[in-house]
Amino acid sequence: MNSGIAPTDAARALLSFWRAAGVDMDEAEAVYAGSAPIQSAGGAPAVVARPPARRPVRVRSAPEAPVETARAMAAAAATIGELQAAVEKFDGCALKATARNTAFSDGALDAPVLLLGEAPGRDEDEQGKPFVGRSGQLLDRMLGQVGLSRKTNVLISNTIYWRPPGNRDPTQGEIVACLPFVERLIELSQPRLLLLTGKAAAHTVLRREDGVMKLRGRRLNYVREGLATPINTMVMLHPAYLLRQPQHKRLAWADLLAAEAWLKELGVELSARLPGF
Ligand code: URA
Repeated sequence: MNSGIAPTDAARALLSFWRAAGVDMDEAEAVYAGSAPIQSAGGAPAVVARPPARRPVRVRSAPEAPVETARAMAAAAATIGELQAAVEKFDGCALKATARNTAFSDGALDAPVLLLGEAPGRDEDEQGKPFVGRSGQLLDRMLGQVGLSRKTNVLISNTIYWRPPGNRDPTQGEIVACLPFVERLIELSQPRLLLLTGKAAAHTVLRREDGVMKLRGRRLNYVREGLATPINTMVMLHPAYLLRQPQHKRLAWADLLAAEAWLKELGVELSARLPGF
């Protein structure tokens, strides 16, 4: 299809869209940097054949970028229920087309702890709820060890709301499109503690790329423009990782104890501890 836009203009427009969305495009932009004349092998500007004159094409204004739509929809949500309805209506993430259900959240809406994972898998896609498969069952046992439960004091969500086909990693575009809803959920729930399980959630929310082994178990602050106060944040190992690497459960146990100690200091009421994971 001929849009009437030169390929380089279209590429530049795409690059600036991704940059505006917060993606590091330095390397890609270097490819298109400047429009220096093409050099011939001998160094003199090459002769470039001019394309035949074309009738001017009327360019329609570009549709709003998905991330802009997501931002507007997220900002308009005044409650977590409204935010869920907005996510369910949002069509800017291509994963929605292949998913069976939207898996937005599960747990207590007024919980003092908000836990975020990565993306729904097959069971979550079927049931439309995060963390209900094998790793969700392990997560429940882990949380129960320190008096946390989605029935009373934890709200669980993800940084992506639709299952990526075959459980592949979400793309940058999919992450960026969902991020305004993730950030709004943090704002609306104002948790006393934000728990990020695994590398993907930690990198997406904290916008830093340190390894999860470096981030885990530490007292961190989540700070963002528009938030009244910084939010206490802790990274912990992902239960799916622990299913593959059970020898690291002792590290997860240490993280949970660190989270428990912090919550107690903050005066958050915890339920009775349940037996081991
Ligand atoms: N892994 C996640 O990160 N989230 C889920 O909801 C399920 C598995």
